[in-house]
Amino acid sequence: MSNTNRQVKLARRPAPGPLTRDVFTIEDGPIPEPGPGQFRVKIEYVSLDPAMRGWVNEGRSYIEPVPVGAVMRGYAAGYVEVSNHPEFKPGDAVQGLFGVQQYAVSDGKRVVKVDTNLAPLQRWVGGLGMPGWTAYFGLLEVGQPKPGETVVVSAAAGAVGSIVAQIAKLKGCRAVGIAGGPEKCRYLLDELGLDAAVDYKAGKLAADLKAACPHGIDVYFENVGGEILDTVLPLMNTFGRIPLCGLISAYNATTPPPGPRNLRCVLTQRLKIQGLIVFDWADRIDEAIHDLGQWYSEGKLKIREDVREGGLDAFPDVLNLLYTGGNHGKLVLKV
Ligand SMILES: NC(=O)c1ccc[n+]([C@@H]2O[C@H](COP(=O)([O-])OP(=O)(O)OC[C@H]3O[C@@H](n4cnc5c(N)ncnc54)[C@H](OP(=O)(O)O)[C@@H]3O)[C@@H](O)[C@H]2O)c1
Repeated sequence: MSNTNRQVKLARRPAPGPLTRDVFTIEDGPIPEPGPGQFRVKIEYVSLDPAMRGWVNEGRSYIEPVPVGAVMRGYAAGYVEVSNHPEFKPGDAVQGLFGVQQYAVSDGKRVVKVDTNLAPLQRWVGGLGMPGWTAYFGLLEVGQPKPGETVVVSAAAGAVGSIVAQIAKLKGCRAVGIAGGPEKCRYLLDELGLDAAVDYKAGKLAADLKAACPHGIDVYFENVGGEILDTVLPLMNTFGRIPLCGLISAYNATTPPPGPRNLRCVLTQRLKIQGLIVFDWADRIDEAIHDLGQWYSEGKLKIREDVREGGLDAFPDVLNLLYTGGNHGKLVLKV
């Protein structure tokens, strides 16, 4: 067992484009000791999230940029080792924004105790963790799906998208997923039981999406942006809703991405587009955990992770898989 704390730190602000290894340093520091009211977590899994690309950029966003020299921000799951906190005891399985490192000290704020009898630890940074909460509130609160409506979701085979699509089914909607490649589309149909799957890499997105949505689209859960958004807009029904959760197609752009060409549809079809950040429901996470956990325990919610080995040294390379579709399910790094 190592007696140091391996940490991934931000070495400098990156240039636009995919992150390179030299943006980060990997350092071994002392294992931190918890102070009064704190506990120490030994991290087992680090969550790799598309948002990490934005968190290292300078500029206005929904959260402060990770400071240069600081430990990279990241969700993680692990076990409490030592505790001076009355509500956390050694052995508790926990999930929180612990950072990309082997050990973290926490005061317990926004930390969730998780039930590893219900689901393995890594699932609590995936479908039962932040991506699941995003799907839950983004679809139900912003998308407001009604039974019988058609819900389309992009990046549908991924962490957020796969949960959105399944909740849409649970709420009595026609669920259509857009994903890249035949394997991911087969997963949507055969494993998740969606009504239709559209492979945007097959070269005929507009025709395939139209065929998959014979009654138009009422809710489009947006994870990607760019060409896919432009293709969806003309198919939206009057008074349709677009929860705008992510725009991953532009995260590594080296030139400003072109604006939507079909914005006129927002006017003519009276569409509502609303951005969302999961933190907006920080005080209601228990509701998402309860419902997602119940559906999962009843076998109504399928969740998969893509757990990568290689430890923290592999962090920059594994993270980049997200932006090329190299992940199959929630991307997680085993520490
Ligand atoms: N607003 C929030 O609070 C919040 C919280 C969590 C996540 N998000 C957003 O939700 C989205 C999904 O995140 P996730 O964690 O669930 O990741 P994910 O879907 O598990 O992985 C990302 C997927 O995006 C797709 N993708 C990447 N580049 C693409 C491109 N140029 N065109 C089309 N698809 C592309 C790939 O799937 P294919 O193989 O199908 O192309 C890839 O597997 C991201 O936009 C993320 O920023 C937002």
